[in-house]
Amino acid sequence: MSQAVLLHEPGPPENFSYEDITVADPGPGEAQMRQAFSGINFIDTHFRSGLYSPGDLPAVLGREGAGVITKLGEGVTDLSVGQRAAYGSVMGSYAEIRNIDASRLVPVPDEIADDVAAAMMLKGLTAQFLVRQVRKIGKGDTILIQAVAGGVGLILCQWAKHLGATVIGTVSSAEKAAIAKTKGCDHVILYEDVDFVEAVLDLTGGRGADAVYDAVGVKTFEGSMAATAEFGTVAHYGAPSGPIPPEVFGKLPRDRFLIRPTLPGFSAKRENLLAMADDLFAVVKSGGVSIEINQRFALKDVALAHVALESRRTTGSTVLEI
Ligand SMILES: NC(=O)c1ccc[n+]([C@@H]2O[C@H](COP(=O)([O-])OP(=O)(O)OC[C@H]3O[C@@H](n4cnc5c(N)ncnc54)[C@H](OP(=O)(O)O)[C@@H]3O)[C@@H](O)[C@H]2O)c1
Repeated sequence: MSQAVLLHEPGPPENFSYEDITVADPGPGEAQMRQAFSGINFIDTHFRSGLYSPGDLPAVLGREGAGVITKLGEGVTDLSVGQRAAYGSVMGSYAEIRNIDASRLVPVPDEIADDVAAAMMLKGLTAQFLVRQVRKIGKGDTILIQAVAGGVGLILCQWAKHLGATVIGTVSSAEKAAIAKTKGCDHVILYEDVDFVEAVLDLTGGRGADAVYDAVGVKTFEGSMAATAEFGTVAHYGAPSGPIPPEVFGKLPRDRFLIRPTLPGFSAKRENLLAMADDLFAVVKSGGVSIEINQRFALKDVALAHVALESRRTTGSTVLEI
């Protein structure tokens, strides 16, 4: 027997229940892990609420975790029992013991602790494709990150600074602004209080930002496009404030590169996943990016973590201790 958090029906956080489960032996191509930590991500709230389908019910949610491999299924040859491993974007992390497609696991270097690995795999690999692939950020770039004090936001901010960019970030409160500043954000805009488009245009001499990272959604998307320089890039990669109505796309400014990227897309091939993870581990080991675990909850208290995330009370990463 082991413990897991099950969702029997999509809905509010109270629908989670902490239960004993039996985990079968791993099947062909799978590994079994004893997890030490699970990450929490905004997308988890969409699977819980039913906005996205959680699949067959009851379901174990959560898409980020780290721990040790305890068993290997048939045909898994590049991992070993006893090895520390982590993953992002694979459902089922709110559990003590789980089976997982072994091709999605990444061995974790000794220098990176389990809680840090669980806090960064989904968010950090997302930051990787955003600053290193969607657009190769470097010296001379000025970028805008919406909700910069969030999980992905703080990693993106530090990584872009490390690559030489000037970072403008938006946040909803002075407390979040102070946190973003400590992580290198050059200009923080309180977007509930001021017009962020005007602020970005002022800061860039009317040009707009070279790249805009928007995972806030309907509330900011049109402004993000307006705050982007000609031939600049807009990555729209999430929407906690709500999806973009289709009619908006017909009235966007022209001559901007717009992409709606996803981690499953960028990491679909194992060689890409491993290369992206190497890049992430290297920047974390170098100190260029520090993973800020600002909230910790016990596995059984996952509902409290969802409430905190949805009510915008979190900053940086959140983990569940298992
Ligand atoms: N495409 C992908 O593959 C991918 C991968 C990872 C994450 N994402 C997306 O990236 C975003 C960030 O994820 P995260 O896990 O790091 O979350 P997060 O940024 O830690 O939390 C979301 C933040 O969004 C802001 N926000 C603005 N309006 C909101 C609203 N109506 N309700 C809730 N929050 C609101 C809040 O910051 P303020 O209080 O400062 O406004 C909040 O802290 C999410 O949209 C997620 O779905 C996408």
